[in-house]
Amino acid sequence: MSAFTYQQDQLYVENVSLTELAETHGTPLYVYSKSAIEQQFDAYQQGLGGHDGLICFAVKANSNLAVLNCLAKRGAGFDIVSQGELERVIAAGGDASKIVFSGVAKQAKEMERALELGIHCFNVESDEELDRLNDVAAKLNVKAPVSFRVNPDVDAQTHPYISTGLRENKFGIDIRTVKATYQRAAQMSHINVVGMDCHIGSQLLEAQPFEDAIDRLLTLVDELSAIGINLKHIDMGGGIGVKYSEDDIEPNVTQYIQKLVNHLKSRNLALVLEPGRSIVANAGVLVSRVEYLKDNGEHHFAIIDGGMNDLIRPALYQAWMEIKPVQPRSDGKEAYWDFVGPICETGDFLGKNRKMSLKSGDLIAVMSAGAYSFVMASNYNTRGRPAEILVSDREAKVVRQREQLSDLWALESLGE
Ligand code: LLP
Repeated sequence: MSAFTYQQDQLYVENVSLTELAETHGTPLYVYSKSAIEQQFDAYQQGLGGHDGLICFAVKANSNLAVLNCLAKRGAGFDIVSQGELERVIAAGGDASKIVFSGVAKQAKEMERALELGIHCFNVESDEELDRLNDVAAKLNVKAPVSFRVNPDVDAQTHPYISTGLRENKFGIDIRTVKATYQRAAQMSHINVVGMDCHIGSQLLEAQPFEDAIDRLLTLVDELSAIGINLKHIDMGGGIGVKYSEDDIEPNVTQYIQKLVNHLKSRNLALVLEPGRSIVANAGVLVSRVEYLKDNGEHHFAIIDGGMNDLIRPALYQAWMEIKPVQPRSDGKEAYWDFVGPICETGDFLGKNRKMSLKSGDLIAVMSAGAYSFVMASNYNTRGRPAEILVSDREAKVVRQREQLSDLWALESLGE
């Protein structure tokens, strides 16, 4: 069940009214439901059943400390792509031994810190990265646990910017050549080869591409085992999508994972997953206020106080995100509205052509804004990033304060 429901004609998150939150904390405002996050994480755990595995939340999707803390308490591991994310996880009470480190450009100092903390695994993406990791581990006199990110060359059938498992993408090592890399790694003094990983794309609404990918990887696992390289885990990355609109199918996370587990039934291989979006997207909204209504005859503009700097997905990926009135009314101006923001760019919209009855001053909620939303916000047009609120039942906590204007130039100088 969604955590966002209408109660007495008002949109609520769990048992807190969004109107009340907007009045207390101002807009634009990100609001998350704790129980929605927990429920989605639990759906992954259920999918694993008794199979050995680790669910590593992809921190890039929502890196707020409170969100990470709530997942850490549930036993989650974390998928990180930078030292920044690593330090966040530690600051949020995450367990270093449950961290997998992804990313194509890991720096030596990032590797060093991750080795000191004793992370679960480095997901290595190139031969040169492997050499660097071996050198860094030698300096610290430890062995680095390594998995290679294999590019399985499968079509994830999603938006080209978030499709990552095709040969033409920059990610991973070509499935045709990775065996040689494994052989080289197995000979290295400070590398411990433990796994194989892939991530084929994001917002996938079908299980089939994952099943194709796992089969390709398992063929390779067998070839490696035939030459004496035995892996402990297989990491299928993230990528399960969410229902953004009525046209989307709602993927059943538990069933997806069960399907993957079925491929591993007769094997002694743990399953690692790196879900981001499917855990947090539908646990969050961006609440924004209509400043003005404006009509040019052809288009009806609802000019709101939230813009592409707060939520860039519609502008960047033509992403469709549902917009709901926080207090629906029938006595406003009924039209097909383009919800546009304050930024001086034509691409600054959060939704177009949405039928609603509106008056200026109304509040709207952009739904499914718990993933890749606040984390991609910027200060463009010298706008402070919104506050973030985490709600649990009747309780609302400010888990990130709104940025103050003076914060925005605190690191600058007059250059005199
Ligand atoms: N693992 C790796 C290596 C990844 O690159 C990603 C996402 C994930 C896991 C998590 O994938 P998820 O479960 O969230 O699909 N900003 C875009 C999405 C970019 C995804 C990047 N990688 C958006 O707003 O749609």
